[in-house]
Amino acid sequence: MTGKLYGIGVGPGDPELLTLKALRLLKQSHVVAYPAAKKRKSNALTIVEHHLTDAQVRLPMIYPFTIEKPLPDLYETALSDFYDGMAAEIGGHLDQDRDVAVLCEGDPFFFGSFMYLFDRLSPHYPTEVVPGVNSVVACAAVLGAPLVYRYQTLTVMGGVLGEDELRRRLQAADAAAIMKLGSNFAKVKRVLTELGLADRALYIERATMAEQKVLPFAEVDETKVPYFAMVLLPGKKWASG
Ligand SMILES: C[S@@+](CC[C@H](N)C(=O)[O-])C[C@H]1O[C@@H](n2cnc3c(N)ncnc32)[C@H](O)[C@@H]1O
Repeated sequence: MTGKLYGIGVGPGDPELLTLKALRLLKQSHVVAYPAAKKRKSNALTIVEHHLTDAQVRLPMIYPFTIEKPLPDLYETALSDFYDGMAAEIGGHLDQDRDVAVLCEGDPFFFGSFMYLFDRLSPHYPTEVVPGVNSVVACAAVLGAPLVYRYQTLTVMGGVLGEDELRRRLQAADAAAIMKLGSNFAKVKRVLTELGLADRALYIERATMAEQKVLPFAEVDETKVPYFAMVLLPGKKWASG
């Protein structure tokens, strides 16, 4: 017998955006693993912490560095080693018949770090993934911005893309979500402005968290854009009928 691995989507920040299923499985897991940056409180843990008991083992997964740009090969290797190490540690608990809940902000299979653990562990252990409210739909809801009507397509991309690639994808999109901003914001703004799309762009940071901020796109200070920020280009209104 081994324990079961759960990938738990905890939503974008508001603790009430946790599903009932996520809550039930979280409460019954022996071990709760969560991603965290060095010397920073984990957002994912903050969302659910008040539901946990002292008896549950907390397993922080502390990233070796922050990931906001495409990684050079050296860092890719370090990251792969990091996930190998975390998978081994989690596997150790599963081998002892302990269920492990891995927390993931938003949804686990939507740019979630859990995917790297899933790839390593799910071939060997029973695994279940609990979807969560992802940041794109949470941002749209907070902004009051219906995202895609009828036959429109939504393009989701990271601000890490090069300028040419951003231009190509944005030109072809009916609606778009641009994630992973931080220091990529200036480049994203340049491309949107050049394409005449800046007027349609909506900016939000830390959606649904206590520190949530919505700013007019033109007024965003590009030196202060955090990683937990997004630009949305909602699809054009579609007449009903
Ligand atoms: C690695 S992805 C994680 C996505 C997450 N798994 C999800 O389902 O939304 C991180 C990016 O998601 C976006 N993001 C996550 N939470 C956010 C929030 N509360 N407000 C705005 N953007 C958020 C940011 O663009 C950030 O750079």
